[in-house]
Amino acid sequence: MASAHTVTIEPSGIETPVPHGENLMQSARAEGLWWPNQCDMQCRCAGCFVLILEGAERTSQMGRAEREALLNQRGRNALDQPVRLACQLGVYGDLTVRKTGVRRA
Ligand code: FES
Repeated sequence: MASAHTVTIEPSGIETPVPHGENLMQSARAEGLWWPNQCDMQCRCAGCFVLILEGAERTSQMGRAEREALLNQRGRNALDQPVRLACQLGVYGDLTVRKTGVRRA
């Protein structure tokens, strides 16, 4: 198994392991966390968005679908901040993100 990184989710302080290069939301679900969303990882709702507090340089690059979903659902200002969609976010190191509503399922 690939090594795992730790993603800390504020303000709850929940920590979840994510295997190297794997998707944040998918990994969190596999660890039994409920993650706010409305489209079940289809890259449409942007409800899974996170603000990256630490480690943005240790994530996958933003793809076109993710960029369009953020623009359509959250407006141009979303791209001025380190905001990403958890359902599209590849994790390549430890991160700290801000996301309200994440809880143990
Ligand atoms: S779960 Fe809907 S865009 Fe990520």
